[in-house]
Amino acid sequence: MNLKTTFDGLKLDNPLMPASGPLVGDTEKLLFMKDAGCGAVVTKTISSKLPNVPKPCIYGDRDFVMNSELWSEHPYAMWQETILPEYMKTKDRPLIVSLGYSKEDMELLVPIFDSFADAFEISTHYVGTDLSVIAQTVRTIRRHTEKPFYMKISPHIPDPAGFARTIKENGAQGVVAVNSLGPTMKIDIRERKILYGNEQGFVWTSGPVIKNLALATVYRIKRAEPSLTVIGVGGIKSADDVIEFLLAGASGVQMLSAALIKGKGLYRKIIDDLPKRLEAHGFASVQDVIDTTLINNVSYQASVPELIEEKCIRCNLCVEICPYFAIEMKDVITFDAEKCFECGLCVTKCPTQAIIMPKRGNDR
Ligand SMILES: Cc1cc2nc3c(=O)[nH]c(=O)nc-3n(C[C@H](O)[C@H](O)[C@H](O)COP(=O)(O)O)c2cc1C
Repeated sequence: MNLKTTFDGLKLDNPLMPASGPLVGDTEKLLFMKDAGCGAVVTKTISSKLPNVPKPCIYGDRDFVMNSELWSEHPYAMWQETILPEYMKTKDRPLIVSLGYSKEDMELLVPIFDSFADAFEISTHYVGTDLSVIAQTVRTIRRHTEKPFYMKISPHIPDPAGFARTIKENGAQGVVAVNSLGPTMKIDIRERKILYGNEQGFVWTSGPVIKNLALATVYRIKRAEPSLTVIGVGGIKSADDVIEFLLAGASGVQMLSAALIKGKGLYRKIIDDLPKRLEAHGFASVQDVIDTTLINNVSYQASVPELIEEKCIRCNLCVEICPYFAIEMKDVITFDAEKCFECGLCVTKCPTQAIIMPKRGNDR
């Protein structure tokens, strides 16, 4: 199975990259990502000043991570003199150098890291939502490099399509979508205190719970500016998630939080699983997924659900959850056609796929 993806002259053996964060914070970790088989390697965000990180700073839950980490704790001179020169000795795949944040930072840092980078990824996490500021930063980067560069969008940017238009008009190749979601909070009831947070009491949320937001952002950007490259990130935890992001419009994907929750072996597992999952879904290659046009088949009329009796385990879950009080357990599960709103919740929640909606075309 061909897993290759190519964009802006970057050739990746597979579409999975690490997302910028603690797992790519020095030479050892960059080499780990290479050995794990990632298609390209991305660095932790490097900036001109050192961050003051409140600690502890990473909270892991089942489906999400909350963090108050900032950019790299290593000075940019250390990246320039030690971390990247050491990594470059065995570099054999594209390296995306992540930089932050202001126009002045770009004037300093882009020339310093240009010889290491195959491409740049620029965090806009701490520069607000003013698109004219983003435009200025993009123009500055363009003046200092001929390499491709991608502006990373944060979920608090209100207009992803406007962001995409702005960065395209000013010379960027694409967008990395998305950064962590926030501000969010973690409260300890017993201690009556904010458990994790920065000076304002806030953390940023990432991991599987933000996947649907990230997917929609990828889709909105690609639909608004089809010529831009989109790198999808946010909540990926499986090969199927990778396929979803590629269908939504991404040319490559990144992951961090699921590996923080489930372990670093997840990078290798997803790359190993990808051929099997592509085949199971009937795709001939990664490029085949990227080339597929996503259907948006809006329907205003479905059908009253039907029961596949032999699959029903009589757990009563559908009765409990039906928002329209339309399902009853008589001898068997029955649907009240008068009350049913054809919402589809029971179809998606049934643990044995015993409920179908034939006319909607999603019977499973
Ligand atoms: C602990 C932590 C540190 C992060 N540090 C950075 C960073 O330095 N630069 C950056 O652009 N994004 C950073 N991120 C955001 C991730 O790169 C990514 O965009 C986000 O977590 C969503 O992807 P995920 O759900 O796969 O983690 C960080 C995220 C976490 C959880």
